[in-house]
Amino acid sequence: MEYVILNGDLIERSEAKVDIEDRGYQFGDGVYEVIRVYNGKMFTADEHLERLLESGRKIELDIPYSIGQLKQMLAEMIERNNLELGIVYMQFSRGTSPRNHAYPGADVEPVLTAYTRETSRPVESMRNGVKASLIEDIRWLRCDIKSLNLLGNIMAKQKAAQSGCFEAIQHRGDTVTEGSSSNIAIVKDGTLYTHPATNLILNGITRRKINEICRGNGVALEESAFTKDDLQDADEVFMSSTSAEITPIIEIEGKPVGNGSPGPITNKLQNLFEEAIEKECGSLTVKIR
Ligand code: PDD
Repeated sequence: MEYVILNGDLIERSEAKVDIEDRGYQFGDGVYEVIRVYNGKMFTADEHLERLLESGRKIELDIPYSIGQLKQMLAEMIERNNLELGIVYMQFSRGTSPRNHAYPGADVEPVLTAYTRETSRPVESMRNGVKASLIEDIRWLRCDIKSLNLLGNIMAKQKAAQSGCFEAIQHRGDTVTEGSSSNIAIVKDGTLYTHPATNLILNGITRRKINEICRGNGVALEESAFTKDDLQDADEVFMSSTSAEITPIIEIEGKPVGNGSPGPITNKLQNLFEEAIEKECGSLTVKIR
C-alpha cells in the first residue's frame, strides 16, 4: 500500500483525488519541492521547506503550515511507506475555484499534495559523467521561484534527450544560466564558477551546499556568470540537483570537457558532499567510489 498526502491527510494513493478546476492543474499556479531521502531521513529538509514557503510568498500563495508541521507530515509519510532511499515530492496549488486568471478570494485554500518515490543514487553517472547539450533559455524571468510551470524546462530536457544527452545547459544569449532541472558549475584554473542566485536561476539547495563546502575546504569560489565560451573552455563542468547530487558533465554538444573524464575538483566535491549526507542521514550503503 502506498500512502500520499492530500491536504494534511495521509491517505491511500488510490483515494487521492484532485478537482479538475484545481489551479495547479489548469494554470500551473503553484509551487513545489523535491527532497532527497537517505536511510529514511530527509536531507536538508529545512532548506527545502524554507524555499517552498519563500516561493509561495513570491507568488502571494500563503502556505498555511509551519516548517515543523510540514516536516512532521512528510516524515510520517516516509515512515508509513517504508521509504529508505528516494525522494519526496510536495506541491501546493493555489486551490480549487471556477477558472479565472485572477487569484481567487482568501476563502479558497491551497491544495497540498505529496508522495514518495524510491530512487537510487545515480552512482554510475556520478562516477563516469554524462553528456549535455546547449539550448537557448526561453523561460520567464522569475526562475528563482520553484513554480509548477515547467514548460520551458521540459522542452529543453526533451530536446537534450532527443540528441542522446542527459541534461540541457541553458543560456540567455552568451550567458549560461542553469540546466533544465539542475544548476551548472564550471572549474577553470582551480576556481569554481556558478551563476549568482538572481531571478535567472533557481538557487538550488545542492548548489548552496556545494558553495558552503567550497568555502569550508579551501576551494576558490566565484558566484559570477560565465559564458558559453567559458563553458566550452572549462577544465571541469558539473550539474547539481537533489536527485543527481553532483554529476560530472564530460561532453557538451559532442565536444569533450577538459580531457573527457570527471576532474579532480568535481571528485573532491562529490566526496565532501557524501560526507555531508552521512553527517545528516547516516552511513550510505552505495558510494560513488
Ligand atoms: N529540480 N534548477 C532547476 C531549474 C531545477 O529544477 C532544480 C531542481 C535545480 C536544483 O535545485 P536543488 O539542488 O534544490 O534540487 C536547479 C528538481 C530536483 C526537480 O524539479 O525535480
